[in-house]
Amino acid sequence: ISLQQFNTFGIPARARRYLRVEDPAQLQALAADPALAALPRLVLGGGSNLLITRDEVELLVLHMALMGKEIVGETADAVLVRGRAGENWHEFVQFTLAQGLGGLENMSLIPGTVGASPIQNIGAYGAEVKDLFHSLTAFDFTTGATRTMSAADCRFAYRDSVFKHEDGRQLAVLDVTFALPKAWTPNLRYAELARELEAEGIAAPQPRQVADAVIAIRRRKLPDPAEIGNAGSFFKNPVVSGEHCARLLEQWPNLVHHLQPDGTEKLAAGWLIDQCGWKGKALGRAGVYPKQALVLVNNGGASGAEVLALARAIQADVRERFGVLLEPEPVMV
Ligand code: EPU
Repeated sequence: ISLQQFNTFGIPARARRYLRVEDPAQLQALAADPALAALPRLVLGGGSNLLITRDEVELLVLHMALMGKEIVGETADAVLVRGRAGENWHEFVQFTLAQGLGGLENMSLIPGTVGASPIQNIGAYGAEVKDLFHSLTAFDFTTGATRTMSAADCRFAYRDSVFKHEDGRQLAVLDVTFALPKAWTPNLRYAELARELEAEGIAAPQPRQVADAVIAIRRRKLPDPAEIGNAGSFFKNPVVSGEHCARLLEQWPNLVHHLQPDGTEKLAAGWLIDQCGWKGKALGRAGVYPKQALVLVNNGGASGAEVLALARAIQADVRERFGVLLEPEPVMV
C-alpha cells in the first residue's frame, strides 16, 4: 500500500504490511499471534510528525483510526473530555470549544490526531498537551492488555515523552483524556499571540477568540500540509548553557533566546537557520519554507532521502556557525 497520503510530507513510500485499526480488539488479536506480534511496528496517526526516509517500509504499519469524542466526567475544578486516537486534533479542539470549554485553544490547527498528541507532547503559543493532560489509555503489546497512564507515566518533556523512547515502543495510544479548567483564563504568555489579539482590539478574549487569533497567525506563517508537504517544525529549539549563549550574543546581539528556569537558554532554531541563509532555499526537491525557516517542505515529488539530505546540510551549517547541534523533531522511519 502507498503511504503517500498518510504522511503530511507526502513522501511516496510503500508499506508491505498495513492494518487500519478501528477497534482495540484488532490489536489484541495481533498481540496473540506470535508471528505478527514479533514484527517491528510503526504506529501511525496523522503522519504529521513523520519523515519516511526509504521508499519501502518494512515495518508493520498500524494506522490508528479509533473514532469518538465525548465529555466523560468532571473533577472539582475541571471537565474531563476524551478523544479516541484517530480523531483529528483540530476538530477535537473545536469540539471542546463548542462545548464551551477552554484550555486547548492555543493549540488550534496543529496537524495530526488526538492519539499522536501526547507522543511528542505537542505545543504551540505557550501551551503544551502536558498542561491539560489528565490520563490516557494505551495498548501494551508485551502484555496484550490495556493500561491507564498518568502524566508522570508519560514522562512528558519538550516535544518528548516515554513513547519516543525504548520503554515506550511497546505501547499504542488508544484514547486521551484532557482536564479542561472550569475557571478558564486566557494564556497570552506568547508575545505574538497577545499582540494579535491587541491588534484586533480584543481586551478580554473568550477561548473562541484566542483560537481564531492562533489560527490567523498559523495561516500566515505555516504551510498547509494539504497544499505543501511538511511536518511542522523540523528541528527542536536547541537548549545551550548560559555561557554558550553569552558568547553567541557577543557576536550576534540579535540572537533570539529564552532563559529557562535552570539557567540554560533555549534558542530559536528558525532564527539560526535563517542566519545561515537557508530561508527559501532548496536542495533538490526539498526546501526551506520562505516564511518560517524551521519548516522543511516538499516542493513536489521529494523523496525522504532528499529531505534528509537538506536537513543534514542545515545541521552542518548551524553547527559550524554557532556550535549548536539541531535535533530533528519528527519521528524518522
Ligand atoms: N525566526 C526567524 N526566522 C525564521 C523563523 C523564526 O528569525 O525563519 C525567529 C522569529 O522571529 C522568532 C523566533 O525565531 O523570534 C521564534 O519563531 P516562532 O515564534 O515562529 O516559533 P518557533 O520557535 O520557530 C515554535 C514551535 C512551533 C510552534 C511555535 C509557536 C518548536 C520546534 N516549534 O516554533 O511548533 O507552533 O513555536 O508556539 O518548538 C512544531 O513543533 O511542529 C511547531 C510548528
